[in-house]
Amino acid sequence: MIIRQEKTGDIDAVHEVVRQAFEKALHTNHDEHNLVNRLRESEAFIPELSLVAEENGRIVGHILFTKLNVGDTVQLGLAPLAVLPQWQGKGIGGKLIEAGHAKAKELGFDYSILVGHESYYPRFGYFPASCIGVTAPFDVPDENLMAFSLQGKNTPLDGMLEYPAEFLL
Ligand SMILES: CC(C)(COP(=O)(O)OP(=O)(O)OC[C@H]1O[C@@H](n2cnc3c(N)ncnc32)[C@H](O)[C@@H]1OP(=O)(O)O)[C@@H](O)C(=O)NCCC(=O)NCCS
Repeated sequence: MIIRQEKTGDIDAVHEVVRQAFEKALHTNHDEHNLVNRLRESEAFIPELSLVAEENGRIVGHILFTKLNVGDTVQLGLAPLAVLPQWQGKGIGGKLIEAGHAKAKELGFDYSILVGHESYYPRFGYFPASCIGVTAPFDVPDENLMAFSLQGKNTPLDGMLEYPAEFLL
């Protein structure tokens, strides 16, 4: 299994992976595949942080980190993360997260922030974003709004999250 940066020729396959991954997911608006397309065209997009998992030439997973603001700082938002249903539970999601973190660290970003499941992301070092003073402009339980420190520092951000407009339907 290879984790690598997405290429132009992967766009249709990524769209399908994300669509299928979220088809039967518990928390979804069934728009995540379109969200990826919108974000790819936006100023928040960082090509090095759109990664695919490839198995024997087939794309089976995808992860995207895009820029978002917290107060007057620029951080990363992890969304979405998708693995094809028949490939789930084999550690591919975890490998995509770790490869993304390594690249994001190299690019100099401080935090990756997400809304996600409280039993999954803490395995990879995510903690409640409230610990660094991050608040959301929408209702979300404290344990589901999480942050990961890419540089290993826990400097408070003390600000409100602002997602790119592309997140709004
Ligand atoms: C979430 C997802 C990306 C994880 O990828 P994966 O390759 O299956 O994950 P891993 O193999 O690294 O980890 C599997 C573990 O995560 C758990 N897990 C998977 N999805 C989970 C979820 N939505 N909530 C909580 N735990 C989850 C599995 O139960 C498994 O736990 P175990 O190790 O105790 O058996 C994948 O299941 C997926 O695409 N789901 C549908 C889309 C989605 O919900 N994306 C996340 C929101 S952005």
